[in-house]
Amino acid sequence: MTTITRSPLLFLSVLLALVVIASAGILAQPVKPKQAIAHRGASGYAPEHTPAAYKLAMEQKADFVEPDLAVSKDNVLFCMHDDTLERTTNVAEIFPNRPSSGVRTRQPGKHWLGNDFTMAEIKSLDAGKWFTPEFAGQHIQTFQDAIDLVRGKAGLYPELKSPELYKSRGVDQVKLFVDIIRKNGLDTPESLKTTPVIIQSFDEEAIRRVAVDLPTVPRVFLTSKDEDVTEARIKALAKFATGIAPEKALIAKHPEMVARAHAAGLTVTSWTFRADDKDMKYPSVKAEMTHFLYELGIDALFTNNPDQFPRR
Ligand code: G3P
Ligand code: CA
Repeated sequence: MTTITRSPLLFLSVLLALVVIASAGILAQPVKPKQAIAHRGASGYAPEHTPAAYKLAMEQKADFVEPDLAVSKDNVLFCMHDDTLERTTNVAEIFPNRPSSGVRTRQPGKHWLGNDFTMAEIKSLDAGKWFTPEFAGQHIQTFQDAIDLVRGKAGLYPELKSPELYKSRGVDQVKLFVDIIRKNGLDTPESLKTTPVIIQSFDEEAIRRVAVDLPTVPRVFLTSKDEDVTEARIKALAKFATGIAPEKALIAKHPEMVARAHAAGLTVTSWTFRADDKDMKYPSVKAEMTHFLYELGIDALFTNNPDQFPRR
């Protein structure tokens, strides 16, 4: 018999010490704060991707601003969700004779592909008055404009939109992106401390390429497909991505995927949380975000309403 088991008092003292040490260890574990990504800026309140939307996102304390990225005819990355310009600008009024041919979208009618216009032409468009008259005069930003506006004040969460479209036109969108990130030093450890950058795309090849070209920058694979949240697929994604971003309906359908992704070392981010969601099943967008963050356990989310983000 050892000395420790022969002396109950000593045994209890050692046991107590071990409990205290273990508790201290648990308490010392930092709780990782949940993160709000302003989806196209604070786009619930201001026209998406304009300076007004990005500035408001930062005033509302969003952790990240999300620029979706398109490419102009003269190979400049600019901030726009759609491949075409007509939904969020007055392009049909300014360039009535320049609709693009052979463009198919979910919307019927004529389309003006952003890649058919130079950056100077795109900058000449009004990108605010479609939202409300008070935003008339807002313009489309280049990605460089967005970097200059946000850097040092919030993080950047750029999405490489439609790399395949640009590839079919001989344009390497991923290379343009890698070049501008490097030129601005956004991939350096010092910069990432003050201006975190996380790259996102639905395009697996794009994520694989940035994993090689910008290894210091976290990258997240976007999906709305059941087959992307299986155990095997998540393990495969973890070899080149640092996170997975399933659409919220996919997480609601497979809530166990959150723990599965975390076990594989991936962060989990979801989209899109908006107060004007027509299919809203919660009393408010804040209640919906609370459920996904604190009950389902996701790490971050894209929202049009950063002012409603529930922090603890
Ligand atoms: O990028 C995450 C989320 O924004 C995906 O939806 O279509 O708004 O880019 P979308
Ligand atoms: Ca996006």
